[in-house]
Amino acid sequence: MEFYVMTLFPQMIQQAVSFSILDRAQKQGRIGVHGVDIREYTQDKHRHVDDAPYGGGAGMVMQAPPVYEAYADICKTVGTRPRVAYMTPTGTPFTQKKAKELAKEEALVLLCGHYEGIDQRVIDEIVTDPISIGDYVLTGGELPALVVIDAVARMVEGVLGNEESAGEESFSGMLLEYPQYTRPATFHEQDVPEVLMEGNHEAIRRWRLERSMEITMRNRPDLLIPEKMSREERGIYERLREKFLEKSLAR
Ligand code: ADE
Repeated sequence: MEFYVMTLFPQMIQQAVSFSILDRAQKQGRIGVHGVDIREYTQDKHRHVDDAPYGGGAGMVMQAPPVYEAYADICKTVGTRPRVAYMTPTGTPFTQKKAKELAKEEALVLLCGHYEGIDQRVIDEIVTDPISIGDYVLTGGELPALVVIDAVARMVEGVLGNEESAGEESFSGMLLEYPQYTRPATFHEQDVPEVLMEGNHEAIRRWRLERSMEITMRNRPDLLIPEKMSREERGIYERLREKFLEKSLAR
């Protein structure tokens, strides 16, 4: 899968994807990440890509023509009109489901804004997927684009090795992941939970399910939908809920 990142700061993208799993995936030819410098497409003799907003107000707005020309050039390279994800706090929230959906594309364009945003006319013309990575405002779209690339790339066939498989993890289902432990067996007088040392696979599975349920209840109760739980999950859920209620009444 090929990612084309339209940005004023292509080095920011290239640097960040040159480590670990994304680096390996590029070397294996499973993904490509291409920084496309919007400034290369300006006709302005001072290479300006922004101007004051019509109607007044603070800040500068990125102009439509260089953004459009950069996209047209990508279309020529790819041979189709790939989807364009525009990184903006006004977009729809990015989720694991969206990452899986985008991973089916052969090519994806990520459009990064700066200043007070981008001229709406070019957004209306090329953007297919406005995306927000959360309810906070960043200085530009590059970090959000990197978040999207990372989450999408690991859903691309072969990017994760067997050891790193994406099967059983947070957000694949509705439970957050259980805690993990490794050597040493004692750290700052805290021992690893005994059940993990005893090799009873059924007991370990059950313990992990309980811890998943517990951490989800504590940190993301909005993810828990009792109607969607198996009998076993429902049983653990009811029991933990009683325990939670007792604790909060005791306080
Ligand atoms: N650009 C600035 N803030 C953003 C956010 N929260 N999500 C996506 N793009 C952004």
